[in-house]
Amino acid sequence: MTDTPILVAVAWPYANAEIHVGNLTGAYLPADIFARYHRLRGRKVLMVSGSDAHGTPITLRADAEGTTPYAAYQRFHNSFLDLFQQLGLSYDLFTSTHTDNHFDISKKIFNALKNNGYLYTEKSKQWYATSQGRFLPDRYVEGTCYICGDNFARSDQCDKCGSLLEADKLINPRSKVDGSTPELRETEHYYLDLGKLQPQVVGFLKGKQEHLRPNVLRQSLGQMEAEALHGRAITRDLDWGIPVPLEGWEGKCLYVWFEAVIGYLSASVEYANLNKLPADWQNWWYEPQAKSYYFIGKDNIPFHAVIWPAQLIGCGVEFSRLMGDPPHTLTLPFDVPANEFMNLEAQKISGSRNWAVWGLDFLSRYDPDPLRYYLTVNMPETKDTDWNWDDFYHRNNDELVATWGNLVNRVLAFTYKHWEGVLPDPGLLRPTDKELLAAVEKGFETVAGQMEAVHLRAALGESMRLSGEVNKYLDTSAPWFEIKTDKAAAAKSVYTAILAIDNLKTMLAPFIPFSCERLHTFLGYDAPLFGSQSVESVKDSLGEHTVLRYDPAGASGEWKVSTLQPGRVLRQPGPLFKKLEPEIVEQERARLGKKD
Ligand code: MF3
Ligand code: ZN
Repeated sequence: MTDTPILVAVAWPYANAEIHVGNLTGAYLPADIFARYHRLRGRKVLMVSGSDAHGTPITLRADAEGTTPYAAYQRFHNSFLDLFQQLGLSYDLFTSTHTDNHFDISKKIFNALKNNGYLYTEKSKQWYATSQGRFLPDRYVEGTCYICGDNFARSDQCDKCGSLLEADKLINPRSKVDGSTPELRETEHYYLDLGKLQPQVVGFLKGKQEHLRPNVLRQSLGQMEAEALHGRAITRDLDWGIPVPLEGWEGKCLYVWFEAVIGYLSASVEYANLNKLPADWQNWWYEPQAKSYYFIGKDNIPFHAVIWPAQLIGCGVEFSRLMGDPPHTLTLPFDVPANEFMNLEAQKISGSRNWAVWGLDFLSRYDPDPLRYYLTVNMPETKDTDWNWDDFYHRNNDELVATWGNLVNRVLAFTYKHWEGVLPDPGLLRPTDKELLAAVEKGFETVAGQMEAVHLRAALGESMRLSGEVNKYLDTSAPWFEIKTDKAAAAKSVYTAILAIDNLKTMLAPFIPFSCERLHTFLGYDAPLFGSQSVESVKDSLGEHTVLRYDPAGASGEWKVSTLQPGRVLRQPGPLFKKLEPEIVEQERARLGKKD
């Protein structure tokens, strides 16, 4: 282990719907790639997330299904674990917000902010449905955005312009439950004093202008320069969630966004407790040199670049005091690499219209690495992108299979056959051999540079470009012909190509770990590159929650130049990927938009 602890904080999916490719490429997959890369670098990585189990997204779903919020959350949570395991998303801990631990940490953050004078109460008018005799949560109220005029703003946020909204200012409100027009009634809530925290949040963001993505800066600093922050209500009239930890506040819960972001911290604590190293989480939260990266979609930017930093700043050293620790402030985000959206066949992904490629459904027909590959080359890092089945088909066959898979397969199969499964001794390498190896080895710097900057598309592009260099080298040296006249020359070529492949395996492993693990065994390694994942069940006073955990035991991958020696015993290779039939394009397109 060396230097910087890296926290890979991944957006918490609402446990109210299945996960589609847009969610995967937006946040969960880039986080995994980044975490795996840092593990190869030997850094102390903690990748955490969980199901966002509370709030109206879940109660809406439960209402629609005629079930309880708890049952609805459990069902989706378990399907997330299934998907993440199949796709190799290596969460050190994927848990849930519906745990005793999370309730406890959330209460401590609430109390720390309160003790430090950053919370206040206020009576306000909220939308009340006379038709149902209750207050309507933000998401149940829709209307016209008072900033951009869009007609489908939710009362707390406008997806069109990305603004956080003040619910009572919404124009022409209507209830999403029954379409009725709600009325404003008085209720009392706790507020986070963002106005008071604004100077510190601005100062924090200004220090990051160099590396925060433009979309993130626009929706944080940009927004604050245009308008002063107002206090935001952090409690709700709702019974599914974390009760406000004060007497006289029965029937009210912490606002789901206020507590969900606290999950990054609480999951770190739970991780440490599960490992029976209860202070371990402090490496990522108390140590000044720790770096935390928040992988989220663009719709989550204000909550991660403004509100969560404000919560952390507002805690000062009070949270550590409530934990019984020596005074420490909490680590602020180092980077918030928010992605834009992925569309599907030129239309917005829509779960309700089934205009989506669902993760689990995809994996019932295809392997995980082609998905990870396609979602990376097409990752919406700087602009919206489009999932196109024809493009998927070509990227699989022409790049993954043709450029990389076939390269590996023909070199390994050829060597295995002609040198009895042993890496031959090349003797002295020729200038062209040395040039190729030098070019590929340079990838350990260039690919790393892109990875560190969270330019994952570019990092993968660079690795694939280097694979192309190996192909060019083989086109010229052509060991398949050399062997007929000069077996010693052919030995130099295959030795060089196999070392290059071993190096590229390391660079590609964060992106396509399943096939790289197989390749790793073909190359004669015994210990795997990465650790393993498992699901466990944890019981507490709220019920039971299953968790997904990454166990690094046995992992041997290292971000370094191959040291394979002549005489190395290889294993029988096999193809790494499947070539797809052109028919899949129309078959898959025919599934879109169909309800089953
Ligand atoms: N569940 C929300 C979403 O999917 C927010 C996730 S990030 C969190 O958009 F940290 F706040 F949970
Ligand atoms: Zn708007």
